[in-house]
Formats: sequence, C-alpha cells, structure tokens
Amino acid sequence: MLNVSRDFAPPFKMIEPFFKYGSIFYLLSLISLLFIDINAPLDDFKIVGFAHLFLLGFVMIVIFGAMAQLIPVALEVGHFSIDLYYVIFPTLFFGTILLVSGFWFSPSFIPYGATLVFVSMAIFLFETLMTLKKTTTNTLTVKAIKYGNYFLTAAIIIGLLMAVAIANGIGIDITKFLPIHAVLVIFGYVTITIIGFSMILLPMFGLAHGYDDRDVNLAFKIITYSVVAFSIFKLLSLDFLANLTLVAIVAALFLYLKQLLILYKIRARKILDIWYQHIYVAFISMIAGVLVGVIGYFFELSNFLKAGIWLYLMGFFVFIINGHLLKIIPFLVWFERFSPLVGKKKVPMLHEMLPQKDCDFSFYFSVAGLIVATLGLLFENEAIFKGGVTLFIFGAIFMLKIVIYILNYKEEDYV
Ligand code: HEM
Repeated sequence: MLNVSRDFAPPFKMIEPFFKYGSIFYLLSLISLLFIDINAPLDDFKIVGFAHLFLLGFVMIVIFGAMAQLIPVALEVGHFSIDLYYVIFPTLFFGTILLVSGFWFSPSFIPYGATLVFVSMAIFLFETLMTLKKTTTNTLTVKAIKYGNYFLTAAIIIGLLMAVAIANGIGIDITKFLPIHAVLVIFGYVTITIIGFSMILLPMFGLAHGYDDRDVNLAFKIITYSVVAFSIFKLLSLDFLANLTLVAIVAALFLYLKQLLILYKIRARKILDIWYQHIYVAFISMIAGVLVGVIGYFFELSNFLKAGIWLYLMGFFVFIINGHLLKIIPFLVWFERFSPLVGKKKVPMLHEMLPQKDCDFSFYFSVAGLIVATLGLLFENEAIFKGGVTLFIFGAIFMLKIVIYILNYKEEDYV
C-alpha cells in the first residue's frame, strides 16, 4: 500500500495523538452545535467557535498527522525534521482550545490561542517548505502542497490580525478580511490539499492507473488563480469581480469531479467497501453543497447558504477524511506492530483490523445526521437540525470508538 520506507516513516507514538485527539475534537465540535442558534448570522461567535473547533481541532489536526506520513510518499524524500511534529501537536491542541474558548467565553483568550495556533502552523509550514526543498519531483501533489502552504500562511497572518483586532480594537475592517481568510483556508488550503492527495490516494486505493490527468491539472490552476484573485479583489472592494472568481472555483470543482469520474470508470477495484461508501457521500455532498451554496450566495438566501456550507464541511470534508482514516490508521498500526512479523507469523490484513459493525454504525448514523440536519437548515427548523446533529453525534462516537480500537490493536486481537 503506502509506499513509505522505514527510514521515512514517522514514529507511531508521534502520529497517534493527531488521529486520536482529532476524532475527539470532531465529536466535541458536533456536540457544540447543539448550543448554537441556527438563525444567527455566520459571524456569530458561537458559530465561529464551532468553525474553529471543527476546522482546527479536527480537519487541520488530522491533515497534519496524515502529512507526517504522506509527505515522504508524495515527495519521495524524508522530512526535513520530523521531530518538529512533537511541537506542532501540543501547540495546535492548546491553541485550538484557547482560541475556541475565546470565541465562546471571553475574547481576552483569543490573542493567546491565536498566537499558539499561529506558532504551530508556522512550524508546520516551515518544516513542509524545507522538506519540499529536498525534492526534485514536481507532480500535481507537490504543487498542491506548495501552494496550499502559501495560502495557509496568508490565512493565518490574516487570522492573527483579526484576532488582535477583536481583542484590542485596532482599526482593521474585519468584514473585508473575514471572507478572504475563509476562502484562503477552505479552498486555498483544505480543498487544494484534498485535490493534491486524492490524486495519489484515490488511484492507489481504487486501483486506477494510466489515465489522462489534464482535467485535474486545469482545475488546480483555476482554483489557485481564483483564490489569489478573490483576495485581491476583496481587498480592493471589487465585489463583483470577487464573485466571478467564486464562480470560477465552482467550475473548477466540477472539472475535478470530471477527472474523478474518469478514475472511477477505469478502476480495477470494484468492491463497495466502507472506504468507497465514504467517498461516494463525500463527493455527492460536494456537488450538492456547491449547488445549494451558490443559490444561497447569489440569491442572498441565508438558509441555502448555510445548508451549502454545511454540506461542504460536514459532508465533503468529514466523509473524505473519515473514509481515509479508516485506511490510514490501520496501515500505521500494521506497519508499526505487524510488518516486523511478516514471514515469521501470520499477520492480519488491513481490512481485518476494522471493526465492521462499528464502521457501519458510524457511517449510517453520520449519513442520516447529515441529511436530516441539512433539511433542518433549509427549512430553518432548529428542532430538525438538532435532531440531525444528534444522529451525527452517534456517528462520531462510533468513529472515535473505531479509532481507539485500531490504535490499540494488538497481536492478541488477531486470532
Ligand atoms: C492563526 C490561526 C487562526 C486565527 C487566529 C483565526 C482567527 C479567526 C478570526 C478572528 C475570525 C473572524 C471572527 C469574526 O469576527 O467573525 C475567523 C474566521 C474564520 N476562520 Fe479562522 N483563524 C485561524 C485559522 C483558521 C484556519 C486554519 C481555518 C480553517 C481551516 C479557519 C477558518 C475560519 C473560518 C471558516 C472563519 C469564518 C467563520 C464564520 O464566519 O462563521 N481559521 N478566524
């Protein structure tokens, strides 16, 4: 599977907390949704707090953990200094808690949390850029890591400025910077990272090789230019042009989907396993989220806009990440505990390390939660939304149970 030599592989103990605490933050962020008012504006601090708990505590922590393992695979070189990940985790962990507490309970915490998160991400960016310097390959994934890093750098500088502005009241127009910050992280970092790594992981897990990758390359270029153009136009208050760049991003996402369909058609692996199920939901949510979100944005229908953002974050991001966790964590544990036994003893196959029933429960509860909560947002019905969130919470509890079960998987479990 993941072609990573022992020399390049990060120590198991270093990566474990990223996945364990990422799954805990995921559960906590869903629980926090029970306390929000769905009719509040998007920049309400309860919603902003949820957004950071989910995006920093779950999405970014899991991405960083996965990067420790996948960057050597993508770049074909070892990390510049893998030990820096020992600093990245605690600073991001405590920074996220402080920042979110600041949004929820007292703005005086915001600058401290913001500084810790900033330091953590700056170390991650430095480590990744130094590792990038060692590689001579220039695949789409390498470009995605590079540009994703530039966008994240710009986003966290703006985040820090906004945080200082909120705490000290310095004269920054937050309404101008907020959309730039959000577009930089959501499309410039997370989406570009997913696109970059999906071009390694989807062909590898789906066994699809020898395809023309023009569509995804074009999609990547359009998103990169559009994110830059959006930021400049917003800074100059040229809102009409900024909106055009958003349309370009939507077009690029459909081009990316066209590429995925090509991969899907030529795949050799046709079994509908738990990974494929997650991937289906992720991409269906992405299409639905983009369409519903566009209607909401351009017709100024806040219920559609919220439902679109919800589908993109909780459908696309959650399912693509959790689906891959169900592949990556068993591999990590297998590599640590069983690869030295190959040829000496019978060792488990990766899919045998998954508790199948729990995977099904997690998947179906989460899908049900996603659909019901989307309807709640569309109909602006708080009870339906929170009912959906409750189902989602059950899905997240099962997901956490699975993650802990695999992380603790020992020889005795395989009989
Ligand atoms: C140093 C790191 C960061 C700091 C200090 C920071 C700070 C902030 C601040 C102050 C706001 C505006 C709150 C308001 O007045 O409405 C904000 C909004 C937002 N941030 Fe961050 N942020 C950081 C990193 C990130 C990252 C890495 C992500 C995503 C992966 C992210 C996603 C968002 C989103 C989506 C919003 C808009 C939320 C909403 O309007 O509901 N932020 N951030």
